[in-house]
Amino acid sequence: MKANLVLLPGDGIGPEIVSATVEVLQKLAALYKLDLVTKECAIGGIALDTYGLPLPEETIHACHNADAILLGAVGGPKWDDPNAKLRPEQGLLSLRKALELFGNLRPVKVNPDLIEASPLKPERLKGVDVLVVRELTGGLYFGQPKRRYFENGEEKAVDSMTYSAGEIERVARLAFDLAGKRRRKVTSVDKANVLECSRLWRQTVNRVAKDYPEITLEHILVDAAAMYLVTRPELFDVILTENMFGDILTDESSILAGSMGILPSASVGNHSNSFGKPLGLYEPIHGSAPDIAGKGIANPTGTILSAALLLRYSLGLDAEAAALEKAVEQTIASGIRTPDLGGQYNTREFTVEVIKNLQAN
Ligand code: NAD
Ligand code: IPM
Ligand code: MN
Repeated sequence: MKANLVLLPGDGIGPEIVSATVEVLQKLAALYKLDLVTKECAIGGIALDTYGLPLPEETIHACHNADAILLGAVGGPKWDDPNAKLRPEQGLLSLRKALELFGNLRPVKVNPDLIEASPLKPERLKGVDVLVVRELTGGLYFGQPKRRYFENGEEKAVDSMTYSAGEIERVARLAFDLAGKRRRKVTSVDKANVLECSRLWRQTVNRVAKDYPEITLEHILVDAAAMYLVTRPELFDVILTENMFGDILTDESSILAGSMGILPSASVGNHSNSFGKPLGLYEPIHGSAPDIAGKGIANPTGTILSAALLLRYSLGLDAEAAALEKAVEQTIASGIRTPDLGGQYNTREFTVEVIKNLQAN
């Protein structure tokens, strides 16, 4: 089988973790006789510097025609001027919007070998297996008006949270469908005691739930959800939430798993690829980690596990995805850890070990 992948390394540690992941993918391709054709394109700060735009036309075009996309991270202090007209992050947001990737799946599992890497008490972490379904193309990130302006001589800013019932319904259906393949529980997280958008969210989710009688639905306010995530995380199966809440809650959840560096994500919408599977964007949940960029010590696990999701969801390669996940687990089990998990191994050493474990299986 031949698949076309677009690689978007981006900024900071992005190129380090994407090149490590591509090495692993190419080894997997050789072992399983796959032809993975890769095309690298610019996004984020590097694209701004080279083309003057965070998402050049050529990148959008290549992504539309790909079977799947693997992204590192975008952004960094170099492009952080608050008065800048264009920012690296707009590239990522525009890509999510252009491909209508409304559902961002962020699985959070606790690997028993990493329990001691989490600052939480070990007994809190037993049995944690959560899937966060984050709405990705609506809410505060995209609502209009969104601007800076002057009023009565004072500078002001506005961002708008907007949702339509249709936007909520499609991501809710995705969450309920996924819950049906898991422990059949959906926890919808909102702020319905304050926000009008959340009240529409809750009513729409309740309406969708009628089509899924086998799924248990509960609603939790986002502030309480943030607390339960670290006190009783085993209670959650699928968490369904809007864009901004999902962004914040998943960085918090990474602490359950041990580090920001290990959580993967898959973003999907209605577009299909040449295999009739979702044309997805796969990326770790973390950012460009400017504090460690260039040091060769970034943890590539989140990106490698994102590649496993890519194989499973966009290419239908379940066995290959499982083999990749197993090779990562074995590497961690053998004590190979990058500094974020308290280890002393660098990106390269970790990657080489994953490749060795792939071959051994
Ligand atoms: P960050 O996720 O980049 O870093 C937070 C902390 O986690 C840092 O201490 C960092 O060293 C650590 N970390 C993150 N990934 C790691 C990895 N793979 N291995 C080891 N340690 C890792 O968040 P930030 O510092 O708030 O943001 C930095 C930049 O990244 C900003 O410009 C932000 O906009 C951008 N960002 C991009 C994405 C994305 O591209 N998807 C996501 C989040 C943040
Ligand atoms: C993420 C990131 C992005 C987001 C930024 C870089 C736009 O934090 O993917 O979690 O907020 O969605
Ligand atoms: Mn984030």
